[in-house]
Amino acid sequence: MDLLSDRLNRIKPSPTIAMTTRAAELRAQGRDIISLSAGEPDFDTPINIREAAKAAIDGGHTRYTAVDGTPSLKRAICYKFSRENGLDYAPSQVTVGTGGKQILFNALMATLNDGDEVIIPAPYWVSYPDMVLLAGGTPVIVECGLEQGFRLMPDALEAAITPQTKWLILNSPSNPSGAGYDRAAMKALTDVLMRHPQVWVLSDDIYEHLVFDGFEFVTPAQVEPALKDRTLTMNGVSKAYAMTGWRIGYGAAPEILIKAMAKLQSQSTSNPSSISQFAAEAALTGPQDYIRESRAVFQRRRDLVVAGLNACPGIDCPTPQGAFYVYPSIKALIGKTSAAGATITDDEAFANALLDETGVAVVFGAAFGLSPHFRISYATSDKQLVTAIDRIRRFCESCN
Ligand SMILES: Cc1ncc(COP(=O)(O)O)c(C=O)c1O
Repeated sequence: MDLLSDRLNRIKPSPTIAMTTRAAELRAQGRDIISLSAGEPDFDTPINIREAAKAAIDGGHTRYTAVDGTPSLKRAICYKFSRENGLDYAPSQVTVGTGGKQILFNALMATLNDGDEVIIPAPYWVSYPDMVLLAGGTPVIVECGLEQGFRLMPDALEAAITPQTKWLILNSPSNPSGAGYDRAAMKALTDVLMRHPQVWVLSDDIYEHLVFDGFEFVTPAQVEPALKDRTLTMNGVSKAYAMTGWRIGYGAAPEILIKAMAKLQSQSTSNPSSISQFAAEAALTGPQDYIRESRAVFQRRRDLVVAGLNACPGIDCPTPQGAFYVYPSIKALIGKTSAAGATITDDEAFANALLDETGVAVVFGAAFGLSPHFRISYATSDKQLVTAIDRIRRFCESCN
């Protein structure tokens, strides 16, 4: 009898975590490594949030809480949805988990039967297809290339929907492309969904606040209120408030889904950290200056990275609307040979040669379902970014 389950064998480890680990190993061996592979803000959690966590510890809030979130954090989340998204949810329609990751996982595990289809536009966040597979569903990948701004087009959505479709997963702004759907683009998609009442939409809004050049963030239930009773609006504090390690994510949806997700969580992790819940409440209800400040820094870095990469021969880097990633194409480098003799057969070969020859760690596009691209996370210092881009440029210049 095999030790490992068939369920486990359906999935692979997260390629972004694998690349970050490889970069850390090379650094431990003494190599000069710049890692542009991890997706987390390089800032400290704002002071008022840290203070709230300390007060929670000293106030004795160190015990189990309600399985899917304290009533007061749920109220704070309702307040956030109403203030920022014009969405009215009751606390009974809100669930809190250990990161946005657990919210997605709970939703898919609670709803998918074998063979149920989930539409995932590519490039996608690496975890979506594997979570669907783990839950017994079938990922239906729809490629959304650079020519369409990495956005799902309404006719492509229409063509991908079948009687087996249970969910569409949308992520705006996107990891890895940074592409966002403006109101008109989102409405065009919700119009399609209105014609298919069996399809639910899972909107991953984790990068909501990281939008640039005045881009207006919108979420499906806001654009099409009639879709709200089959939408899971997912969000979290990780990216918005530099709180990746605190592990708090949340979602809002009709009660039937929220109750099912809580049931699952009651038999797995129970409540997310009580202290982190207090911290998240402070994040959502306290001063919001950090959001504005970090957005300005990320926009400056985005401009620096986009300009730098477009000056590299063979790289074509579109300007993203949000998040802290760029997703350039290396189409023109495929088939070339690096200075050290590596043939750039695909984007994985490119990322490996770049790491070996220059010490710059990026994640190859195949991991996100769309090649030939690579992803850079610019959530690191300007100094590191300038050095990394200089190395990438010299690497590209040496390819022939
Ligand atoms: C698109 C997207 N969704 C969800 C998550 C999960 O974030 P967390 O579990 O830290 O809330 C991430 C993290 O990288 C992400 O990039």
